[in-house]
Amino acid sequence: MNIAFVGDVHGCVLHVLGAAVLLQERRGIRLDAVIQVGDLGAYSSAERLDESSRRFGRDHPAQGDFLRLLDPSPSFAEGVRLALERIPSVLFVSGNHEDHDWLASLHEAAAGAAVVPVDPLAAYHHVACGNVVTVAGARVAFLGLIESAGEVDLDDGACTRLMDARSGSVDVLVTHDGPHGMSRDRRGSVQGSPKLSRLIEHLQPRLHVGGHYHHANGPRRYGRTTSYALDQLVRPKATRWDPEPINPEQRVTAGSIGLFDTETGDFAYIRDEWLAEVKGDALDLADLVAAGTR
Ligand SMILES: [Fe+2]
Repeated sequence: MNIAFVGDVHGCVLHVLGAAVLLQERRGIRLDAVIQVGDLGAYSSAERLDESSRRFGRDHPAQGDFLRLLDPSPSFAEGVRLALERIPSVLFVSGNHEDHDWLASLHEAAAGAAVVPVDPLAAYHHVACGNVVTVAGARVAFLGLIESAGEVDLDDGACTRLMDARSGSVDVLVTHDGPHGMSRDRRGSVQGSPKLSRLIEHLQPRLHVGGHYHHANGPRRYGRTTSYALDQLVRPKATRWDPEPINPEQRVTAGSIGLFDTETGDFAYIRDEWLAEVKGDALDLADLVAAGTR
């Protein structure tokens, strides 16, 4: 079975669905699941956006698509419905840029269910930290947030629960952060979480996938685990570090999606040219789905 993994989305939820539809069509495969590694940008209202989401949102209209999904116009809803006729809904774990109180309230309202839909069209389902869910026949552990003192720090209870799980009892580990030492930032500081390194060493899943650092990184091997990090799904138009525009047309980034075959264990980054067809400040998903599946 095929699982597509998607890097940090930061609100561009239509780009995810469009890319998944084209992935099936252009590769001639069927996706059995789509898993997003956090920073979906799941905020309950514009007032709840954190400072950086607000700042990026000003120049990146597509980052407002998550809020549009919560109260969709008829044409927006039609695009999402057409996509969901072709692809599975998306499971996601918490990143450090989400409305964590709101997501927790959805789980509470569902009597503590591990997986809850977050939008009226049920396109996206949040998985609470520390759960192991069977997805496309694979046992997938989910641990969101990042190792950082403060409110986005890894949840102690969730970490303990997964550290208590038997080694080898999980096929795939999905996190937002990555293992310690996976890369360095612009100042040369080591990136990644020591706690996640210990969890990977203990659980020894076949595959680990994370995001957060907004660059593709892997494969890296930790015992019998192969680990990958995904790029940001839609990079910003420009950054303060680069004089040249990076992504003015808001195209999906090569290396932001990975495809995992649960039978063979093969994982590959998607870098196909058609990814760039999934683009725009105002993506017409109905149009993209119709054109892509014609
Ligand atoms: Fe992010």
